[in-house]
Parts: sequence; C-alpha cells; structure tokens
Amino acid sequence: MAAGSREQWNSKAGFILAAVGSAVGLGNMWRFSYLTAEGGGAAFVVLYIAFTLVVGLPVLLAELTIGRGSGKSPIQALAHFAHAAGGSPAWKLLGVVFVSAGFLILAYYGVIAGWTLRYAGEALMGFAPDTAGHFGEIAAGAPAFGFHVVFMAVTIGIVLGGVSSGIERVSMLAMPALFALVIGIAVYAATLDGSGAGYTYYLNARLENALSIPIFVDAAGQAFFSLSLGMGAMLTYASYLGRDNDLPVESAIIATADFGVAFLAGLMVFPLIFAFGLQSDVGGSTVGALFVALPKAFVSMGAAGRIVGFLFFVALLVGALTSAISLLEVVVSAAMDGLGWPRARAAMVAGSLITLLGAGAAWSTDVLGVMDAVANNLFLVGGGLGLSIFVGWVMDDPVGEARAGGSQGALRLWIGLLRYAVPAVLVFVLWNSIPSTWKSIMALFAAS
Ligand code: TRP
Repeated sequence: MAAGSREQWNSKAGFILAAVGSAVGLGNMWRFSYLTAEGGGAAFVVLYIAFTLVVGLPVLLAELTIGRGSGKSPIQALAHFAHAAGGSPAWKLLGVVFVSAGFLILAYYGVIAGWTLRYAGEALMGFAPDTAGHFGEIAAGAPAFGFHVVFMAVTIGIVLGGVSSGIERVSMLAMPALFALVIGIAVYAATLDGSGAGYTYYLNARLENALSIPIFVDAAGQAFFSLSLGMGAMLTYASYLGRDNDLPVESAIIATADFGVAFLAGLMVFPLIFAFGLQSDVGGSTVGALFVALPKAFVSMGAAGRIVGFLFFVALLVGALTSAISLLEVVVSAAMDGLGWPRARAAMVAGSLITLLGAGAAWSTDVLGVMDAVANNLFLVGGGLGLSIFVGWVMDDPVGEARAGGSQGALRLWIGLLRYAVPAVLVFVLWNSIPSTWKSIMALFAAS
C-alpha cells in the first residue's frame, strides 16, 4: 500500500462485526459465567447492565470518536487531539499504557484460548470423566504453551492479512457462525431434563450475594473488559473508518450484541451444568464452570455430548480468536504508525514477542491469574480513567467530533457521564482493587 493512505473497512457491517468480534470473547462466556455464579445470578446481571450503560457505553463512544477523528493508532491519536486542544504532549503516554496492556492481555489470553483449542478436540473424542484432574494436568506446562503457540500463529496470520482482507473478512464469517452456535446450543440445553434448575439459579436475583463492594467492582470491571475498553482496541478499529458512520448508534449496536452473547452464554452454561447436577463444580474457581463442570456434563450426555461439547468449544474459540485479533492489531498499528514498519514486520515481531511473554502464563496458572488481575484491575481501568478525563475535560469539541456522521444522539449526557460518573466509578474500582491486586503480586513473588 502506498505510504500515507490508511487502510479502511470495506463496509459498515464489516466494521461493526469486527468490533463485536473484539468485544465478544472469553469474557462473555468464561468470565461472565463465573462472575454471575459468584455474584448472585440475575442480581449480578442487572448490576452489569447498569455499569454497561453508565460506564461502558460512554467510554466506547469516546474510543470510537478519538479513533475515527484522528485516523491514527492510539499513541498518535492522543498526541493529535492533545496538540489540537493545546494540552500536554504527555497525553500520548496514555497511548503507551494502552499498547502495553495489549501486550500483556494477549499473552495470557492466548494461553486460555489454547486450552479452548485443546478442549474442542478433546470434546470430539470424548472427555475423560475426571475433568478436574484432567484440567489440572493440561492447564500448565509445555503442551499448554504449544496450544498457545498454535493459536497465536493463526491470530498473527489473520492480522498479517490486513484490515479489510484479513480482520474484516474473518469477522464477517466468524461472528454470524458464533451467534448461530450460541443460539443453537442454548435451545438444545432447554430440551434437557432438569435444565429448569439452571434457569432458576441464573435468572433469580440472589441479592444477598450481589450487595457487596467486591461484586460491584467485578460488575464494573466486567462491563469494561467485555466491551474491550481501556486499551485502545475500539479506538484502533475506529481509526479505519470513514466519516459517515453514526458512532452513537454503532456504539449501542456493539454493546447490545456483546451483552446478547453474554446473556445467551448463561442460557447455555447454567442449564447444561444443572441438568447434570454439577453445580458444586462451578464455584470456588474461575475455571470451574467452563473447564471442569461443562466437560463433565458433556461426558454425561454421551454421543450427543461430543457434538454439543465440540460446538461449544468451537464457539468459544471463535470468540477468543476475533478478540485476540483486535488485541494484536492495537500493537501492530502502533508499530506501523510509530516506527514506520510495514504490517508484515509489525505483525511478526509483535506477535512473536507476545507469544513468548505468554510462556509465563503457560507454565503457571498463578502467573496467569496475576497477569489477568494486573491487566484488568490496573491497566484497563486506569486506561479508561485517563481516556474519560481526556475526552471529558481536555479534548476540544468531542461532541462535534462524535456527531460528524450526522448523529442526533444525547451527546450532552455523554459528556456529563464522561466528566463525572465514569471517573467516579473507575476511581472507586481502582481504589478497591489495588490492594487485592498488590497482594496477589506479592503472593506470587513469595511463592517463587
Ligand atoms: N472483550 C474481550 C472478551 O470479552 C476481552 C478483551 C478485553 C479484549 N480487552 C480487550 C479484547 C481488548 C480485545 C481488546 O473476551
């Protein structure tokens, strides 16, 4: 491609599906399921919806506005608008935080996606009945690293293909397939005897579990993580847009689709687990529901379980892949803009370094847990806080910039939320999660 001409999406649908692909991932099925189980079923879901509306949507629109308005990768995009507003050039450091978060998240995300890849194959062959023991054996070590490498190679391959012929093409195929799988499995789960107990568990609000500060913090963090916010992924995708998109409307579409898949994931996971009386395997650990209880349910289902289990883990894998692509694209676009590298070099170098960094998570689930906590509790929430302050208080005329596609949305309310509500919630989350994150880091060093 000629220097200076930036890649673009081919169609609006292509952009929307790619952004939904970024949002829909392990967070919707793995994280959503265990947080909902822990946080009181529907009570948690309601909290999560509330935080999506008050915090998630405003930050999503902020990212899309900065990305499209600058047509640049995160570091340059922030520098551009900081300069235009006469603000400090140091704002571009926020972009550096974004790119670092992409590095860190993809490194362990690829390891979990590697487990998922392995489980798709094992589901087809039939899981061994001792699913807890099996997970303990495969979660860490050389095979875990091997599956991570395979997953990362596919991710790198797609990003190498470029914005429209790599990322967009894959998203246009993958997202409809994922929706169909998730709906199909949810409908199938409804036909199982005993699934009713799963719906009761999921859709009843157990308020006594939800009304606590840690659950509030989890719900806010999940609203953020699930929409891929706080590290410039949505910003980067929006930088490949033309001027004629209605960003407020598209933000709402993306958030609705993302929530829809999470909600459907609950309609798959809980009935499947409860129909086989496996609720005791769900709690206690972050991997219990997906990697221990569900495989057990698939074993109990016999031949049908092989097919359903395979399709379930394929759906999860597809979600993980389209999210991983967007994580890598943040780093790649930053290297292309900042270092002037061609896409191929950027994708290979960044992708390989991230794959290597994943070795830590692949050899120790404790390291993986700490990377997850640091990335989410510190980088994403801190990144989102910086971004909301930047757009709310520093940037010139964000409303005009967001409106450029002809939108009539309630953009005064948007700025109000970005100035006050979003920073208040995110500071609260940071304040409450820093001590536990710090403790988990220290525990890791004490153990090693
Ligand atoms: N949203 C993704 C999910 O639900 C995970 C994620 C968090 C992410 N932050 C991201 C993906 C940034 C891409 C970019 O699984």
